[in-house]
Amino acid sequence: MNLLLIGSGGREHALAWIISKSNKLNKLYIAPGNAGTSSVGENININVNDFEALGKFSIKNSIDIVLVGPEDPLANGIHDYYLESSELKNIPVIGPAKKGAKLEGSKDFAKEFMSRHGIPTAKYKSVSLENLNVGLKFLDNMPAPYVLKADGLAAGKGVLILNSLQEAKSELKQMLEGKFGEASKKVVIEEFLSGIELSVFVLTDGKSYKILPVAKDYKRIGEGDSGLNTGGMGAVSPVPFADNKFMNKIEEQIIIPTIKGLQKENIPYKGFIFFGLINCNGNPYVIEYNVRMGDPEAEVVIPRLDCDFLDILEGVAFNKLKEKEIKIKPETCATVMMVSGGYPGAYEKGLEITNLEKVKNSIVFHAGTKNENNKVLTNGGRVIALSSFGKNFKEALAKSYENADIINFDKKYFRKDIGFDL
Ligand code: AMP
Ligand code: GLY
Repeated sequence: MNLLLIGSGGREHALAWIISKSNKLNKLYIAPGNAGTSSVGENININVNDFEALGKFSIKNSIDIVLVGPEDPLANGIHDYYLESSELKNIPVIGPAKKGAKLEGSKDFAKEFMSRHGIPTAKYKSVSLENLNVGLKFLDNMPAPYVLKADGLAAGKGVLILNSLQEAKSELKQMLEGKFGEASKKVVIEEFLSGIELSVFVLTDGKSYKILPVAKDYKRIGEGDSGLNTGGMGAVSPVPFADNKFMNKIEEQIIIPTIKGLQKENIPYKGFIFFGLINCNGNPYVIEYNVRMGDPEAEVVIPRLDCDFLDILEGVAFNKLKEKEIKIKPETCATVMMVSGGYPGAYEKGLEITNLEKVKNSIVFHAGTKNENNKVLTNGGRVIALSSFGKNFKEALAKSYENADIINFDKKYFRKDIGFDL
């Protein structure tokens, strides 16, 4: 099979890495990819949102399956673009059409979906400028802290958690007046849930589903989960507190009602569903849906798969997922994200990365990197994810940290406390 993978981060390198091991693979292309994906497939220089160029490339290169990494092209309708073209409609795209991508693209849509299907989530109220007073009253009647979420995609910045009622009211107004542009013209006000978060992933062909290994990521830039939110600074899989009893609750109360809800509402869905969950006193609640794999969760989930992943993807693409079996390695996998100094604020690009060849006992997944003149250079805030196996997460992390000390680039930074709360 020929597969076209869309994206350029650590998640895409992890996907490309496992797909490249399949006996079923003929050619793997990554658009646009990074320095890491170029070692397991062929990078092609097409932007993830240039559907016309991706379509033309797919026909010319007899692509059998398109696998979409990030949410952006999904929210922009890459799946719909293929379906609506007479030449492309027979090439399956893994990743939902626009309608399904709204689970991630609109917080209001996701909350309404959960409420229609009895899926546990925080109490909420959606407001726009027209009913600002309803929002202010809702805030008056709830205890601090206050959670305000921009309805639309806001590059991971659209959620505010505030301790003072005055501040919450003033932020609500600013958001509705366009603080996050179009994304915050509608705002979801939520009850604050207290607990520990985790990420659960399923793959579905719209009818059946398979649960992938569970993971926990560390989103803040600073140790002890302090400072600004990032795309993710590290992850571990499995998550020690997610025992069988808890995972069964997640399947019964969240996964099955979500898959059935999509079917009932005639939302065809092929791809990953990423459940961002919180464990409140032993009960799972949905914090958010994403319509893709997590990053850096993919860098710990994918290495634990002990099966031909392209065969599983073929099941998703051609509605035969039920026949497939996902085997999972019992060992723990942990990853540490090396980032460029300044991230998630301003940072430099184009810094040379050295000592990659000296890494032992870890898998190097490239995130923001590129090849230039036989050198590997930084090309983003998150640069390299170092994933390692161990009997437990501490043993796995020790290997990643050893290698994080060896790999070098100017102003490198990584968190040294991944897993601190487990
Ligand atoms: P989201 O983009 O919806 O995942 O929100 C970003 C982060 O804000 C989450 O990962 C949580 O840490 C936090 N958060 C979101 N909603 C809530 C909530 N209702 N209660 C507590 N924390 C929340
Ligand atoms: N690591 C969280 C995410 O991918 O959204």
